[in-house]
Amino acid sequence: MNILLLGGGGREHSFAWKFSNDPGCTRLFIAPGNAGTAECGVNVDLSPNDFPAIKDFCLKNDIRMLVVGPEEPLVLGIVDFFKNDPALNEVAVIGPSAAGAQLEGSKAFAKKFMERHSIPTARYREVRNLEDGLAFLKTLQAPYVLKADGLAAGKGVLILDNLDEARAALETMLAGQFGEASRRVVIEEFLSGIEYSVFVLTDGRHYKILPEAKDYKRIGEGDTGLNTGGMGAVSPVPFVTPELWEKTETRIIKPTVAGLAAEKIDYLGFIFFGLINVNGDPFVIEYNCRMGDPETEVVFPRLKNQLVELFRQTLDGRLAEVEIETVPDVAATVMLTAGGYPEQYRKGDRIALPQSPPDCLFLHAGTKMNGDQLVTNGGRVLAITSFGKTIDEAVGKSLAAAETVEFDGKYFRRDIGKDI
Ligand code: AMP
Ligand code: GLY
Repeated sequence: MNILLLGGGGREHSFAWKFSNDPGCTRLFIAPGNAGTAECGVNVDLSPNDFPAIKDFCLKNDIRMLVVGPEEPLVLGIVDFFKNDPALNEVAVIGPSAAGAQLEGSKAFAKKFMERHSIPTARYREVRNLEDGLAFLKTLQAPYVLKADGLAAGKGVLILDNLDEARAALETMLAGQFGEASRRVVIEEFLSGIEYSVFVLTDGRHYKILPEAKDYKRIGEGDTGLNTGGMGAVSPVPFVTPELWEKTETRIIKPTVAGLAAEKIDYLGFIFFGLINVNGDPFVIEYNCRMGDPETEVVFPRLKNQLVELFRQTLDGRLAEVEIETVPDVAATVMLTAGGYPEQYRKGDRIALPQSPPDCLFLHAGTKMNGDQLVTNGGRVLAITSFGKTIDEAVGKSLAAAETVEFDGKYFRRDIGKDI
């Protein structure tokens, strides 16, 4: 079967790498892809948000499966667009409907959904004006968490140390700091604990849990500095004990999937639970309607199941019969970023990329070919994933490989996995 994969980051290279070893995939196309995905299939110069152009491409290239990597086309309704067009009824789509993608597309929607289904999460209030916001902020203690309701390219969450800063930040957000996305703001109680990421694949009724991961979001070592898309990840996560797993599944995963079904929200695809362990109890920090990046770079290398078969079983409502098989080894990924990231950064710097060592995967994020030359094309440039018997061994291999890759401004964190 021919497959079209949407997206162009490290997550999509991980999908493309899985598909390239999958007997169920005949031809793979990636839109827009990067220099890494071009080694697994054919890159197509199309925007994931240009639905009519994607339709055209699918019809001309006998695409039978569309796999959506990033959240934006899902929130914009690509699944509904495909379902509602009879010309596209031979194309199966992996991803939730626009209604389901609201779990990520609107923080206020997600909070109300959790409230309706008694899913543990931080206390909150949704506000549209400064007065209401201030009244609620005064009931909380520092630090203060402000979230733009809509998609804000991962930048819409602000954590403020005191009430004056929180007030000023709220005012700026409501005035449109993140455009329409922050005309509504969710103010939350700050939860103190350690974060972990859990992924499920669901057909809307059944679900299967994939390996968990821990992401490192801050730019600086010791979890300092600005938030990024993610500077590295490890899987499995040692502090996710059987007891925490059990609570995570019964208090969070089950009621989420059951809640979607009860509300007749059409959801087929991945749910990414951004969780926090507060003294042994799991709480939801956020939902995403897609896989994580860079978590996919450690989750998929540990997954033995072939994706095409898994997606077929999901589409056929046969997920209950499926057994998820994982490699027991630890996978760790270290992200190499461009100088300046996550603020202004350069693009177009030449990358000297050696052959990846055995046991190591070079998963491209922001790269492209400029003629014969590999160059940087994003803030996050390359994820280096390695396996080991321990976190230290896996991270050590990725760090050693990171030293061998060269480009101007290269930066990476050397402390991935050191805190767990
Ligand atoms: P989000 O985009 O919702 O994942 O938020 C980005 C980051 O902000 C999270 O990964 C957390 O580190 C932090 N964060 C969000 N909400 C809270 C909260 N209620 N308490 C503590 N930290 C939070
Ligand atoms: N690594 C966090 C995310 O994908 O949103």
